[in-house]
Amino acid sequence: MTEAPALKVHGLIKRFGGLVALDGVEFSVARGEVLGIIGVNGAGKTTLMNCLCGIYGPDAGSIALGGESVTGLAPHDIARRGVGRTFQVPRVFHRMSLIDNLLVPVLKRHAPDRALIDAAETMLERMRLIELRHNFAEELSGGQQKLLEMARMLMSDPDLVMLDEPFAGVHPELCRFMIEQIEAMAAAHKTVLLISHDLTSIYRLSRRVIALNQGRVIADGGVEAIRGNPAVIEAYLGA
Ligand SMILES: Nc1ncnc2c1ncn2[C@@H]1O[C@H](COP(=O)(O)OP(=O)(O)OP(=O)(O)O)[C@@H](O)[C@H]1O
Ligand SMILES: [Mg+2]
Repeated sequence: MTEAPALKVHGLIKRFGGLVALDGVEFSVARGEVLGIIGVNGAGKTTLMNCLCGIYGPDAGSIALGGESVTGLAPHDIARRGVGRTFQVPRVFHRMSLIDNLLVPVLKRHAPDRALIDAAETMLERMRLIELRHNFAEELSGGQQKLLEMARMLMSDPDLVMLDEPFAGVHPELCRFMIEQIEAMAAAHKTVLLISHDLTSIYRLSRRVIALNQGRVIADGGVEAIRGNPAVIEAYLGA
């Protein structure tokens, strides 16, 4: 028997009033695969991610994780099934310390124990933010907030990681560091969905890319095939 894909999206439709933001999106991702998602502004990339993590309920279609439907589940239920994400504009807790930001998703009802605090410190060390652990998140630069959000997502050790424009507005040096972090996620056999306008980074990280345009998947294939795909070229150059 073949293993169910980590993620299978079937006929996904999402409307905002008269606007069809997702128009029958279909694709699947194998366990441990890094899938790049490209598309011009407004193509539906973030909406897709918002549907996958339960922020939006789709109007039609289905979403399955490891063969089990999660269509219409609430964000915390989907997170509990091993899905983590970051946002295009990072959503950190501004008036909380970096350590506390990391403890939020893993904290149960009781106060954090030493093991959790140690894990948070190890994660901040890994993300080169340890010196700032007692600072408020609002004191971080935009790029550092993206790192903090990535760190917070990794605290719950998700199997499926969704990153919305991790490199946007980030200095090239920090981009390189983020790419290494994403490579480490892949090496740890996590499944990764990577939205990016930075095709060079996508090409470095993923062997397969889907291109969205006006809420539809217009191409799905290897990096080289996508690069030369006439529909993709037209969507980009025509825009
Ligand atoms: N909450 C919302 N209410 C109304 N319209 C929305 C909402 N969210 C997204 N849209 C619309 O859906 C379409 C897709 O938007 P989306 O944010 O998914 O695009 P995107 O591919 O992520 O673009 P970008 O590259 O600019 O981030 C756009 O036309 C957008 O205006
Ligand atoms: Mg977006």
